[in-house]
Amino acid sequence: MDSTAKKPLPLGVTNGSWDTEDSLDLYQVPAWGKHYFSINAAGHVVVRPDGSPEREIDLYEVVEGLRQRDLTAPVVVRFSDILRHRLSRLQKAFAQAIAENDYKNRYTAVFPIKVNQQRLVVEEVYRYGDEFGFGLEAGSKPELLAVMALTENAPEQRMIICNGFKDDSYIEAVILATKLGRTIIPVIENFEELQLVLKHAAKYQVRPRIGVRVKLASEGAGRWRDSAGEKSKFGLFVTEILELVKVLKANDMLDCLELVHCHPGSQLQDIRKVKDAINELAHVYAELKLMGAGLKYIDVGGGLGVDYDGSGTNFESSMNYTMNEYASDVVYRIGSVCNARGIDHPVIVSESGRATAAHHSVLVFNTLGSSCLDKFRISDRIEDEYSGDRDELPQPVLDLFEAYRTISERRLVECYHDALQAREQALQMFNLGLLSLEFRGLTERLYWATCAKIRDYCRKLDRVPEELEGLELILSDTYFCNFSVFQSLPDSWAIGQQFPIMPIHRLDEKPTRNGVLADITCDSDGKIDRFVSHREVKRTLELHELKPGEEYYLAAFLVGAYQETLGDLHNLFGDTHVVHIRLHDEGGWWIEEIVKGDTAGKVLSYMEYDVERLFPQFARDCERAVREGRMTLAESQALRRFYEWELNGYTYLEG
Ligand SMILES: Cc1ncc(COP(=O)(O)O)c(C=O)c1O
Repeated sequence: MDSTAKKPLPLGVTNGSWDTEDSLDLYQVPAWGKHYFSINAAGHVVVRPDGSPEREIDLYEVVEGLRQRDLTAPVVVRFSDILRHRLSRLQKAFAQAIAENDYKNRYTAVFPIKVNQQRLVVEEVYRYGDEFGFGLEAGSKPELLAVMALTENAPEQRMIICNGFKDDSYIEAVILATKLGRTIIPVIENFEELQLVLKHAAKYQVRPRIGVRVKLASEGAGRWRDSAGEKSKFGLFVTEILELVKVLKANDMLDCLELVHCHPGSQLQDIRKVKDAINELAHVYAELKLMGAGLKYIDVGGGLGVDYDGSGTNFESSMNYTMNEYASDVVYRIGSVCNARGIDHPVIVSESGRATAAHHSVLVFNTLGSSCLDKFRISDRIEDEYSGDRDELPQPVLDLFEAYRTISERRLVECYHDALQAREQALQMFNLGLLSLEFRGLTERLYWATCAKIRDYCRKLDRVPEELEGLELILSDTYFCNFSVFQSLPDSWAIGQQFPIMPIHRLDEKPTRNGVLADITCDSDGKIDRFVSHREVKRTLELHELKPGEEYYLAAFLVGAYQETLGDLHNLFGDTHVVHIRLHDEGGWWIEEIVKGDTAGKVLSYMEYDVERLFPQFARDCERAVREGRMTLAESQALRRFYEWELNGYTYLEG
C-alpha cells in the first residue's frame, strides 16, 4: 500500500480549504487510474485516453452533453482511444521484454471476446490490433460466428484461437475456415475433439493447425484458481497429451500440432503464480517439440491482472506486478527454457482480455436521493422535545436524554453503552404495550442523535475507541443510485469484486457525507458497501451533500471487462445507454457511436411478452373504466399515454 499517501482529513473536520489534489488523494485516482483518469481545475473527472495530460476529456462535460442530447444516466461511456492505448501498451511491454531478453521471435495477442462481446468493442479491438497483428479468441460457437466474420480477409499473422467445448459442426467449421485462409487453431480441450479434427481434416483434405490445452499441475490463484491445476475443467492431462502425440504420429500429422496453451486463471494477483505456470508450460512445450511436434506457438492464456484498487498488492482486486513485469517474466521464462533445451523460440501468444478492456469503460449514474440516520437533531432541553408532563416520560427515555446531554470526550464509550441499554429497554416496553408510539418516536430520535454526537466527537480523535469504530458505518447515509448492480456491475454482487467509484464533479469541494450506495432494484443485495482505498477496504464512500434540484453524478471505473455481458435483467432493468467517445484530431471530443439502452418493451419481449398486444389489452381496460364512469376520459388518456410512452422508454428513471 502507498505509505506516502496523505491522510485525508476526517469528514466533518475542515481546515478551511479543499482542493482537487485532496480529492485525487482521497479517491486514490492516480493509483488505480494509471494516467487515464485525473481531476481538472473545475473539480471534474477528466479522462486522458492516451495517458497524456495534453489531451483530456472532461467526463462531466460529456455527461452534460449527452443529457442535452436526451441521453440520460445511467450510461456506459466507452473511450475507444483507451482501448487502442491498452493494446499498444501490451505490444510495447512485450517488445521491450523481447529486446531485453534477446528473444528470437515475436509476440502476438488474441482478444478473448467473452471479455466484452459487444460488436463495437470487438470491432475496435480488431481494428486497433491491426498494426500489431493481433487476433481474436472464441470460446463458443456463437463467438466463433462473430469472429469468423470480423476477421474477413485477415492476413496470416492475425490468429484465431478456438477454446472451449467443441462439437462436430464447430470443428467442421474450423477446418473449413482453414481453407478460407484463416490462421485458425482449435485448441483440443478433451480427447474427443481430436477425433473430430482428424475426421474433418480427412474429409476436406486439410492439414489443420492444432493446439492443445495443458492441464497444469501448478495451481491457479485468486478467485479463478480453478481455471488451472489438475482439477480444472479444461485441458488434457500429460498422459492424454502423450496419447494425442501418438495418435497424430500414427496419422502422420505430428507437424500439425502447432500450439500449446494454458490458462492459469483470470486476474492473477500474484506474479509467482504467473512464473510457475509459464515455467511449467514452457517445459511441456520443449518436451513436445523435442518429440517432433511442429510447434510454433506458445499460448500463455489470460490472467494479466487489473489493479482495481490501485494498491499494487497481492489482494484479489489488485496485482503485485506491472504489465512490463508480466511481459518480462513470460518472455524470460520461455526463452530460458528453450535455450536450455536447445530449441527455437516460439511465437508467444497471450489471451489478455481484462487488461485490454477494463480501463476503457466507465459507468456513470445519477443519484436519486439519500437517507441519513444522523438527521435527527435534538435540543439540550427535554421540554423542547416533549411538551407533555415531564413525569409522564418513561425511564428509558429519560436515560437516553441524559446520555445525550452528558456526552463529552471522556465519556464517549460510557454514553454509548447507556444509550444502547436505554433503547433496548424502551423497545422491550413498546413490545409489551407499555410505551406509546409517540415515545417510541422520541426514543428513536434521541438514540440516533446520541450516536451522531458521539461519532462527531470521534472524528476529532486521533484514535477512536474500538467499540465506537463501527459508528461511522452504522450512521452512514444510503445514496440511492439510478442503476442496477445486477445489470451493470454483476461482479460486484456475485464475487465481491471492487471497482473504483467516486463522484465525477464537485471534486474541488470537500465531501461531507459518508455513504453506501443502493441501486434501484427491489433487492437488498443491490448495494455497494465496499470501496477501494489505499489502506484496507473502505466500508463507506465520501460523498457530497445532495443539493436540491441539482444532479449528483457518480461513476464506476474500469468496468470494460466482463460486466456488460454478465449483467442480467433483474427487475427488468435492461442494458444502459452506451456511447463511444473519441478524441478529436483538432482537439476536444466527439461522439462516435450511440447505442440506446433497452426499452421496457424490449426487455418485456425478452420475457416472452407479446409487446404488440400489451398496449391494446391495457387500452381496452381504460375504455371500460370510462364507459362505466370510474374514470374521466382525460384520466384514461393520461394513463394510456403513460403506458404507451413507457413501453418505448428507458427502463431506468429519467427524472
Ligand atoms: C481460455 C481463456 N483465455 C483467456 C481468458 C481471459 O482472461 P483474462 O481476462 O484474465 O485475461 C479466459 C478467461 O477466463 C479464458 O478462460
